[in-house]
This record gives sequence, C-alpha cells and structure tokens, in this order.
Amino acid sequence: MKRKNNELKSKVIKFNLETGISPEIESKKRMLSDMEGMYFDNNKLKEIVKRRDLIVYEFYDLGIKADPSELAYGTTIVYPGKVGAEYFMTKGHFHEKIETAEIYYCLRGYGYLLMENPEGDVEVREMKPGISVYVPPRFAHRSINISPDQPLILFFSFRADAGHDYKTIEKKGFRKLMIEQNDKPTLIDNPKWKS
Ligand SMILES: [Fe+2]
Repeated sequence: MKRKNNELKSKVIKFNLETGISPEIESKKRMLSDMEGMYFDNNKLKEIVKRRDLIVYEFYDLGIKADPSELAYGTTIVYPGKVGAEYFMTKGHFHEKIETAEIYYCLRGYGYLLMENPEGDVEVREMKPGISVYVPPRFAHRSINISPDQPLILFFSFRADAGHDYKTIEKKGFRKLMIEQNDKPTLIDNPKWKS
C-alpha cells in the first residue's frame, strides 16, 4: 500500500506517570452521569449525580487511522470512587472486529481488568504497576479501580481498525461485578446480567 509521507513519520507523545495525562492532547472524559445503567445500584448513581457529577475515567483517542497495519494506543485513567459497594470502572467494550486483541500495561494504581467472551468465559486479572495483561481476541474488557485514593493508570494498544462496541455491554452488562465486601474486592455474579 502506498502511504503519504507524513504517515511514515515516527511520533512522540508524553503521558505523565503520576497523572496519566498527556499535556498536548485533549482526553475523552466519562462522567458518572454518562454511566447511567452501568452500575448495579442505579439509584445510588442518580443520588450522587444529583449532588455533584463526578469524573469516573478519561482516556485518549489519538485518531490513528483505522487500518489493520496501524496501532491505536494511549492511557486510560480510572479515578478512585464507588457507587454503593461497586468500584469506579470503565464502561467496558467488545471490539467491533471481535477477533482483535489488546495489550494493557499498568503504570500506577491498583485494580482489575475484567474480561469475558460471548461464550461465557470470564477472566479477571489484577492490575498493579509493572503488570501487563494481554486481552485475547473475542474478550470484552473493563478496567476497575479498587484503590480508595489513587488513580488507576493503564497504557493500552490495539489494532487501529478494531472499533468499539459499547452497545452490547450497555444492554447486557458483564456477567460478573467487582464489589467491596468486608473491605475486600470481591467478584460476584451480576444479578442484572441479561443473556
Ligand atoms: Fe479495547
């Protein structure tokens, strides 16, 4: 394939290790009000939003061309917090091209990467600084911050044409939920999960 000259150039982008933020690029932000229906206790969510809407997470979309030869990458920053007993987390998604994988690498904080495929296999991996997790093809993925006071900062990369399917998770949820039980993160069956 013929490429334009500027596509052949290397690129340098800075992501701050303390904050996960890139000073040169605008992130995408998800507020608690954007997370309606994602948490088990939706009334609790509404109650918090009524008092003050909070940022749950932000991430980068660098606008890399959606081509199988390219790699999309950036950071996701999940802030500390809970809705009832459920930790702050990303919405989570399948890839539109479901046979594409993804890499996550934890730069800061403590949490989990929750994964499941349409066949019902569930994987959950602890995230802490220095840990990388390979999300295999077909697995939806969600990042969960279990720290009471630190952001969870993850670096990710995936095939740039993978695409995001948020709708399936918005409709069905994940099969499992990570909640705080007796002061410990505990994975439970999601009572609201729709097959
Ligand atoms: Fe992804």
